[in-house]
Amino acid sequence: MGSHEQTKAQYDEFGGAYHAKRDDPSRSFYNTFVDVPAMTALLEGAVAGRRVLDLGCGSGIPAGRMASWGAGVKGVDISDTMVEIARREQPGIDFVVGDAADLPYGDGEFDLVVSSLVMHYFDDLAPLFGEVSRVLRPGGGLLFSFHHPMMEVIEGRELEGGGVEYLAAEYFHNDPYQFGVAPGMELTAYHHSFEDVFAALAAAGFRVDLLQEPRPAPESRRYNKQIYDQISRYPSFCIIGARL
Ligand SMILES: C[S@@+](CC[C@H](N)C(=O)[O-])C[C@H]1O[C@@H](n2cnc3c(N)ncnc32)[C@H](O)[C@@H]1O
Repeated sequence: MGSHEQTKAQYDEFGGAYHAKRDDPSRSFYNTFVDVPAMTALLEGAVAGRRVLDLGCGSGIPAGRMASWGAGVKGVDISDTMVEIARREQPGIDFVVGDAADLPYGDGEFDLVVSSLVMHYFDDLAPLFGEVSRVLRPGGGLLFSFHHPMMEVIEGRELEGGGVEYLAAEYFHNDPYQFGVAPGMELTAYHHSFEDVFAALAAAGFRVDLLQEPRPAPESRRYNKQIYDQISRYPSFCIIGARL
């Protein structure tokens, strides 16, 4: 099974559980307290009246927010289950099933492509950024979040007597790794160094103008002290903004 088929199969099977988890802040800590607040701060006042594509839209959570801020939003996702949930949750938005590497849209249709936590499912970034570049108008923008490359190579080891020691593994590679998203839901993602990501963006015609490494707000600590303590000191997700 190819990498995209495997991702699709997992979201098709476990999409309902993934969406349900998003309602529980302690189980969706990384989304609720890292990705969503950081993306909200960047997008809330910036999307009104703009044609926005939510790429890898999942169950429609980012698309629904952007529509409430006045954007003209469409959403695409590779998983039928996720698109079914998105249509149910956000009935006013046009969601379609499709692969981000082969988008079902015309050239130059969008002012902005927004994509939360999707890039790391791609082993090869060229088809992804190439398609995003094609569907954007000249001068259009891309804002996306993904697993921070350092998070992918930092391993926590429980110490006898309590505490955790963090060790760094190899960084310069493009290897796959597995991670759990919900009970039984094991996904494969691909490591990319920052140099690879920036080179792939440049090859597709993008100029990077923003890099953020968001951290959780102190109020979130009560929802999951262990994750809070770790990702306040070590990177978890990052966000890149780029323009054609
Ligand atoms: C972690 S979820 C994030 C969903 C949504 N962006 C959010 O933040 O709520 C990742 C989503 O990316 C979708 N996805 C993964 N690979 C994709 C691909 N090649 N094309 C389109 N969607 C993809 C998955 O089906 C899943 O819904």
